[in-house]
Amino acid sequence: MTEGNLLILHAAQLLSCSGFAARKGREMADIGLIEDGAVAISGGIITHTGSSREVLAQVNENDYVSIDARGKTLLPGFVDSHTHFVFGGYREEEFAWRLRGDSYMSIMERGGGILSTMQATRAAGLDELVESAGARLDELFGMGVTTVEGKSGYGLDRETELKQLRVMEKLNARHPIDIVPTFLGAHALPPEYQGRPEAYLDYLITCVLPVVREEGLAEFCDVFCEKAVFSPAQSERLLRAAATFGLRPKLHADEISPSFGGAELAAKLQAVSADHLLQTSGEGIRRLAASDTIATLLPLTAFSLGEPFARGREMIDAGCAVALASDLNPGSCFSASIPLLFALACIYMKLTPEEAVIALTINGAAAVGRAGSIGSIDVGKKADLILLRFPSYRFLPYHTGMNSVACVIKDGTVYRP
Ligand code: NIG
Ligand code: FE
Repeated sequence: MTEGNLLILHAAQLLSCSGFAARKGREMADIGLIEDGAVAISGGIITHTGSSREVLAQVNENDYVSIDARGKTLLPGFVDSHTHFVFGGYREEEFAWRLRGDSYMSIMERGGGILSTMQATRAAGLDELVESAGARLDELFGMGVTTVEGKSGYGLDRETELKQLRVMEKLNARHPIDIVPTFLGAHALPPEYQGRPEAYLDYLITCVLPVVREEGLAEFCDVFCEKAVFSPAQSERLLRAAATFGLRPKLHADEISPSFGGAELAAKLQAVSADHLLQTSGEGIRRLAASDTIATLLPLTAFSLGEPFARGREMIDAGCAVALASDLNPGSCFSASIPLLFALACIYMKLTPEEAVIALTINGAAAVGRAGSIGSIDVGKKADLILLRFPSYRFLPYHTGMNSVACVIKDGTVYRP
C-alpha cells in the first residue's frame, strides 16, 4: 500500500458528470451514470475511473486503501458557487418583520438589511469572524460541499471589506473546503456615501480594488444590480474597472425588480455568472442562453423571501447553463441546506434530479472558474467526492430536506460527518 492511495470500489452508482466546461440546456441531463463504479486516487488526484472491473484491471489493489461502496452512490463534491458566509451578527427580527408583510427592500431602505449586517461586521474582530464563518463551513462540508464561493460586501469600507477577504484567506488555509473569494464592495451604499453612488464607486475603484489586487484577495467582482442599489450602468462601470484589476465579473441580477436588465448586462459583459434571476425577462433568458454566462439559481432565497421561484425549467429548455447555489447569508437566506435546495429545485423549479446534480457539480465548478480541476469525476481532477448512503442519486431530492451524505472525500482524504 502506498500512502495517499485510495480505491473506492463497487459503488451502486457512480455519476461522472464528466467534462471540463459548463453543460448547457439538454446536455444537463447527462450525468454519466456507471453501475458498480470505481475510482482510484493518488496524491489527492483521480487517476482511474470507470466500472470496478475496468479500474481493477488497471491498478494493483494491494497498493491502495480500499473503501467498499456497495449500496452507495459516488459523485463529485458539490460546488456552492454563491454564498455570503462571512458576516457578523444575525437578523432574525427582520425575518419576523417579513412574515408580517414588510418587504426585503423596505427593510433595507430604512437602514436595516445589509446595512445592519455591515455594522455588526465592522464591529467584529477578525478572529471572531474566522470562528463563526468556520462553523458555517463545517456545516456545508457535512452536506457534501467541497468548494465554496464566498463574498465580501458587509464592510462597505476598505478596512472591513479587506477583513472579510482575509477571513476567507485564513479559512482556506486551515479548512478542508476550498474557498473562492469574490469582492462585493458594491453590495449596498454605505451611510458615508448616501446619495452619492458614483462617488462610492470611485472610492471602490481607486482605494479598494488596487489593494484587493495587490494582495491577491479575490478572483471575482460581484455587484448588487438592483433598483435603489446599483443601476445597470453603474454596475457595468464597476465591473469593467474590476476586470482591469484581473477580477472576473459576476452579478446579483434581477432578484427583486422585474426586468431590471441584470441578465442582459451579464451576457453583454460575458460575466461568469448571473445570479438569482427571479425576475428575468424572456429576452434576458434568451440572451443568457446565447452567451457563456451561467444562470445561477438560488431557490433557498426565493423560498426564504416567499418570492416566486426562478424559471429554471424554462432556462434549461432555452439552452442556458444553470448552476444551483445556496446564497447563505444572514438576511434574505439564512440557510445553506443543500438537501432542501435539491428538493426546491426539483419540486418548484422543475429541474430533473439529473439536472440538479449537474447544476451543483460541473456547472457550479464552471461558475467559480474551476471546471478544469473540480466538479466531475475525470482523470486528472482533484479527488473531491461524496458517497451517499443510498444506492441512487434520486434520493437527493426524494429524501426531502435530509442529509444523504455518508462521507466526503476531499483531496483524497476521507471525512465522515
Ligand atoms: O443575494 N441581495 C443581495 N445580497 C444577498 C442578501 C444579502 C443580505 O440580505 O444580507 C442576496 O440575496
Ligand atoms: Fe447573494
